[in-house]
Amino acid sequence: MLDQRQRDEFTERGFVVIPRVVPENVVAEATRGIDALLAADPPEAHVTGPHFFFPDAADVPALLAPLTGTPAWSYAESLVGVGKLDVPGQVQVALNIPPFSHRPGMHHIDGYPPGPDGRPYTFTMLAGVLMSDQLGEDGGNLWVWPGTHLTHAEYFREHGPDAFFAAGGYPPIRLPEPEQIRGRAGDLLLAHYLLGHNIGGNTAAETRRALYFRLKRTGHDPRWREFLQDPWLDYDAFPPRSPRTPPRH
Ligand SMILES: [Fe+2]
Repeated sequence: MLDQRQRDEFTERGFVVIPRVVPENVVAEATRGIDALLAADPPEAHVTGPHFFFPDAADVPALLAPLTGTPAWSYAESLVGVGKLDVPGQVQVALNIPPFSHRPGMHHIDGYPPGPDGRPYTFTMLAGVLMSDQLGEDGGNLWVWPGTHLTHAEYFREHGPDAFFAAGGYPPIRLPEPEQIRGRAGDLLLAHYLLGHNIGGNTAAETRRALYFRLKRTGHDPRWREFLQDPWLDYDAFPPRSPRTPPRH
């Protein structure tokens, strides 16, 4: 379980980093899994900046294990509801290869363009496992704009959820100062789907590595329009309510 301070952080800022969630041996096994992907399909020598692999989770058990075989899963469940999360079918291996002297000018949210059925690829929560230490800034860290999970929901309440399509992943909201996610290999990031974020630069010596999992509450897909306007629709315990308020689920 997250403690109260961590839950408050997720409520107000839209993300929380939980240290030392994934044990060293699980990180080591997943590191070998990433090494194997890189050996089988190495990036060309001139490639710098973001470089991704999207294997099916069933094909890479060592890369799914940091989420499902560690306390990471119960941390995520403690926000959404026990037994309410679908195991993701895909893993994203997110590398950021130096030198990459980039500073994002703005945020985005995922899910655009929509799929063949017209539904955007929204989800409930991003779980990220850091696979390399990112203690300083500009080392390939993920950038986030704290609190924008709420501002995005306000935007969709005002303009309607179909404004998602016109925005193309970049809803024109007012932005606070961004922050860079810092932590060590094995730390867990939980971020609300509606939190604005982006890829940062990498002026450090090492390639930055992370695993990302896009988690959905069971039954999320048909409710995406409602979810864009009510950021806590998928989250049983949020926002904190009076004990006399009946739960919505
Ligand atoms: Fe993204």
